[in-house]
Amino acid sequence: MNRSLPLENPSLSRRQLLNFLTGSVVASTAAAVLYPVAKYFIPPAESGEGGAILAKDILGNPIPASQILAQPAGTRALVAGLAGEPTYLIVKQEGTLDNMGIVDNCTHLGCTFPWNENDQQFQCPCHGSRYSADGSVIRGPAPLPLKLVHIAVTDNAIWISPWLEIDPRTNETPWWV
Ligand code: FES
Repeated sequence: MNRSLPLENPSLSRRQLLNFLTGSVVASTAAAVLYPVAKYFIPPAESGEGGAILAKDILGNPIPASQILAQPAGTRALVAGLAGEPTYLIVKQEGTLDNMGIVDNCTHLGCTFPWNENDQQFQCPCHGSRYSADGSVIRGPAPLPLKLVHIAVTDNAIWISPWLEIDPRTNETPWWV
């Protein structure tokens, strides 16, 4: 008669199952907690689809969207955009960024210019050109509207990509394409 213990011990299997389940719960809880923390500290890739790049500050560091959106509605915030071009981002009334950015490069002779809040215009100090809020020419000698770029926000990162479609201000192919 064989009196040896059976190879499979049911109570041991139950313990193993409990250990497995406990380990799984601990691992998934830790992952749920650590993922957002890790994501916060690891900077996103600096280039994306369609030639998109991250908006950067004067030191070349990516600017989080929350930093721009902390400004009041109507703010025109300057960032370094495509090929380092200074680019205005616009804070909308809803507290989001406008999906249209305006390149700070006068179409007359390339001066940079400030936003005049009182007049609601971009006003070039070099030869007096004026542009409306969307970058259309109000007064020359600037011959063309300001260059546009696309703005998109993903996970607090601001992406700037080329505007290659019809210019909504002229309903024509953009002059810069
Ligand atoms: S460069 Fe802006 S008006 Fe001449």
